[in-house]
Amino acid sequence: MNVTEISQLIDTLIFEHTGKHLDDVQKAVIEGTLHGQTYEEIGQKCHRSETHVRGVGYQLWKLLSEALGEDIKKSNFRSNLERVYTKSSQIVEINQNFNFCSQTFNEINKNNQSNNKPHQNSLLFHNLTLAPKITDFYNRETELTTLSNWIFNQNTPLISVLGLFGIGKTTLVKRFVDLNLQPFEVIIWKTLKFPKSLDLLLDNLLKVCQQEPKESTDDKIRQLLDTLITQKCLIILDDVQNIFIPGEFSGQYKSEYQDYKNFFKLITEIQHQSHFILISQEQCSEMHCLDEERYPVKCLELSGIENLDLLRNKNLKDEDTWLKLVTLYEGNTIYLKDIAGLIKDVYNGHVSEFLAEDNLLITTNIKYHFRQIINRLSSPEKELILKFSKFGHAVTKEQLRQDIELSSTDFINSLQSLQKRYLVTKSLNEDKIVFNLSPVFKEYVRNFCQM
Ligand SMILES: Nc1ncnc2c1ncn2[C@@H]1O[C@H](COP(=O)(O)OP(=O)(O)OP(=O)(O)O)[C@@H](O)[C@H]1O
Ligand SMILES: [Mg+2]
Repeated sequence: MNVTEISQLIDTLIFEHTGKHLDDVQKAVIEGTLHGQTYEEIGQKCHRSETHVRGVGYQLWKLLSEALGEDIKKSNFRSNLERVYTKSSQIVEINQNFNFCSQTFNEINKNNQSNNKPHQNSLLFHNLTLAPKITDFYNRETELTTLSNWIFNQNTPLISVLGLFGIGKTTLVKRFVDLNLQPFEVIIWKTLKFPKSLDLLLDNLLKVCQQEPKESTDDKIRQLLDTLITQKCLIILDDVQNIFIPGEFSGQYKSEYQDYKNFFKLITEIQHQSHFILISQEQCSEMHCLDEERYPVKCLELSGIENLDLLRNKNLKDEDTWLKLVTLYEGNTIYLKDIAGLIKDVYNGHVSEFLAEDNLLITTNIKYHFRQIINRLSSPEKELILKFSKFGHAVTKEQLRQDIELSSTDFINSLQSLQKRYLVTKSLNEDKIVFNLSPVFKEYVRNFCQM
């Protein structure tokens, strides 16, 4: 949607709500906000004082909040609007012959509410300001169906989406959210990229639901649980691996984040109608359950995508060789984006020329990510990946074990921990269980690790 389209839609919406069209200052506030301008800059442009423009903005956000049933502010105007627009587009898809341009947001909201029980007589608190906007999305239909099934049919309260960096976890979950806004009264997306205490997270969550957080963490947990019981909520926590200790086996909570462990457990023990999705590069014990049939915890482990569309619109040539490139880089979306850029710049887009060099090249960006991963490994795991890098193929436990200076406990724990980081995969080869390090990571270890 461009600025003019947004402005026209807001005008229609405000007209329906107040019987008046947008005036020039209101239009200037909308356009200025979309261009990231301050009230002072907007005021200068339309020759009004900053105070006057701020007052007009305040009234406008209030009107829009009432009309859309969303908390609209200057800071979240664009993202909220795009989300409502996405929601409306889905309704357009559902209702064939439905022309969005002739339909106002008001009608969309009415449609939403009448089609959808949970929304009746209740406010919607959707806060996706920290979620990425998805423009391209390929494959992952099975994964989307799995998430839908766990949430809507099996009512699973705690789901984890796990996998190596860049494999597409965040993108998949955001796509799921975009496709499923309707059934939830509360949707909140939070990232733990810069982790915060559980107490602060609870404050944030409660405030989005327009509740004043109580004094103690226990009371805040109770308040949130009440919300999870009375309203259908979807809460997404991204980058969860950052609450785990670097330099130790995977999934160990840092001391200051221990209460997350109890909190996640509680989410699965209390009866409610809501769902948490945890996105992480590392698995911890709360994310996984041996008996998934009986316990309300599920985890979706992502592997790469075998789809050539990932390479389209990237100025690449020799389409007949693209599949080889996708396979070489394990279908990892970040690796492929990076390598496509490199092939365009250095090989003028000729994929076959790049492949002819027979070189599993590690880009600077991939190297940077792998360095972060290495920093998270424990010493025995580092030892083990060096051992893995000496083999050009998958190996048995016994082969790995030979000549390695690790106690048997450290060896076994490392092997498990590396699997929980999605760096090592297990498979069956002629009736034997074999393990292998991710090939791209192995190449990195061979070339850049002197531990
Ligand atoms: N299904 C997909 N279709 C198209 N592009 C995708 C898809 N999945 C991921 N991507 C692209 O690949 C990149 C990495 O995806 P994403 O950020 O979701 O990975 P991630 O697993 O969350 O990584 P991290 O662990 O580093 O957060 C993004 O630029 C995204 O746009
Ligand atoms: Mg991510």
